Amino acid sequence: MNGFQTLIYEKKEGIGYLTLNRPEALNAYNIQMRDDLYEVLLAIRDDDEVRVGILKGAGEKAFCAGADLSEFLTVPPPVAARRVRFARDVWQLFLSLPQPMIAALHGYVLGSGIEMALCCDIRIASPETRFGLPEMGLGIIPAAGGTQTLPRAIGRSRALEMLLTNRRIEADEAYQFGLVNRIVPKKDLLHTAEEMAKKIASYDPVAVRSAKEAVVRGMDMSLQDGLNLESILGSRLTGRRT
Ligand code: COA
Repeated sequence: MNGFQTLIYEKKEGIGYLTLNRPEALNAYNIQMRDDLYEVLLAIRDDDEVRVGILKGAGEKAFCAGADLSEFLTVPPPVAARRVRFARDVWQLFLSLPQPMIAALHGYVLGSGIEMALCCDIRIASPETRFGLPEMGLGIIPAAGGTQTLPRAIGRSRALEMLLTNRRIEADEAYQFGLVNRIVPKKDLLHTAEEMAKKIASYDPVAVRSAKEAVVRGMDMSLQDGLNLESILGSRLTGRRT
């Protein structure tokens, strides 16, 4: 599966490697990337051979510098945009992937860059990574789930400070906030993500998916409902062995 204009997708030993590939524009997210991403995420979702995914950005300077500003004033009128959004809700799809996704982050991680990273389950960053949400300065708010996913990751007041003041944070602060799991030297970034992915891919894929489902769905439930979900998923797993 290849030939995308804005992405590279490769599959090796149970790991799906998804690379944002517009380094000349710091991997800015444009309409073509949305369409390409939708296609690849569908393929990942439906491919049992993919046990875990890694999302990364091509080039030295950025994972993703946010929405493509050159398309900013050329977006379709609201009704058309809404129709496209319903038809191709790439973010819902991303958040609903059954396989764990690992984001390997470097350089600028801005706007939809943070939001894509937040669609992933585990985030690893190199020390020079810089995070920010520039949307306020453009008179918009994040549109890829960031207003919901960021506070769930780092808490309401930290998320609102980043959102409302466009404060950039660096990797060490992102680590303190819990936005990234680990900071590793840039030269080790992909290797670390791969080692983690290989470990996950070595486990029973149904157990891995069940653990992700229990955590992700459970976070939007009451504790009691979450415990019930855990119990159902756990019984299904043990039921396979009897
Ligand atoms: N959309 C489209 N193109 C972008 C882009 C974006 N969001 N971010 C960077 N680029 C392009 C630049 O236009 C430039 O292209 P050029 O070489 O053809 O001139 C290239 O990527 C390199 O960017 P440049 O600005 O020269 O790099 P820098 O190191 O000086 O600055 C940033 C890096 C990230 C600080 C700066 O590019 C920036 O502020 N980008 C916009 C971030 C933003 O507001 N995103 C929208 C979020 S909603």
